[in-house]
Amino acid sequence: MPHALKERLLALMDTKHHWAWPRFEAPGLTREQLLVHFRHEYHTYVRDFPVLLARVLALGPPPAVRRALAENVYEESTGKLSFGVSHPELFLELMDGLHIDRAAVEAEGGHWLPAAETYRRFLWQATGAQPWPVAAAVITIFVEGSRHERAELAGTRARAPIEAHPWAVHYGCPVKNLRLMQAHALVEGDHRDDGWRSILEHVPDEGPLAERVVGAVERALQLWLRYRDSVAEAMGLSPSG
Ligand SMILES: [Fe+2]
Ligand SMILES: [Fe+2]
Repeated sequence: MPHALKERLLALMDTKHHWAWPRFEAPGLTREQLLVHFRHEYHTYVRDFPVLLARVLALGPPPAVRRALAENVYEESTGKLSFGVSHPELFLELMDGLHIDRAAVEAEGGHWLPAAETYRRFLWQATGAQPWPVAAAVITIFVEGSRHERAELAGTRARAPIEAHPWAVHYGCPVKNLRLMQAHALVEGDHRDDGWRSILEHVPDEGPLAERVVGAVERALQLWLRYRDSVAEAMGLSPSG
């Protein structure tokens, strides 16, 4: 069956959605609620995303995959293919624009949800061990990707103008503080293509390696959903309202 692996992974990515997500695209959240969300995002994967990518590179994948990962690490760590600012730093610019204290976002310790720790630990474990395609799939497909993977791959993902971004419209974030989203619009399409090509060109469509790749992405999705449930709960949100 051609592309069985691609379709299985896409089907998982289609479901990378959490019920609380639409609340972040609507007005009404307090700064305190947003801080809970952003602190956990920052510490689960935003701050260390370039390092997680570098861990996959350090597993020594084939040359074409190394090159793609090295470019991704370079951009995420330095932003020199976009604005000259690392993506974790662009995330903190977003915090400034939302009037969320960046020191509170960056602070270690404090209230830290166990489900966030479980998800973070999984990401570190998955990127620290062979086989490299499993590590790469978790980071470059699951973490870096979204439920819009099909559209990203088809080149048909529609992006609203930056002024229409919910952080600008509902939370007063100046457009100049939305460079993270702009950097992603500029360079992330390539990272999506590279991520998928790396896996699909090196993992046989069927067999034990394909099963491990799918299993790891499934596990990432499961732990991410639990993490998102617990953030929503800590923010005082519930599916019913
Ligand atoms: Fe990237
Ligand atoms: Fe990024």
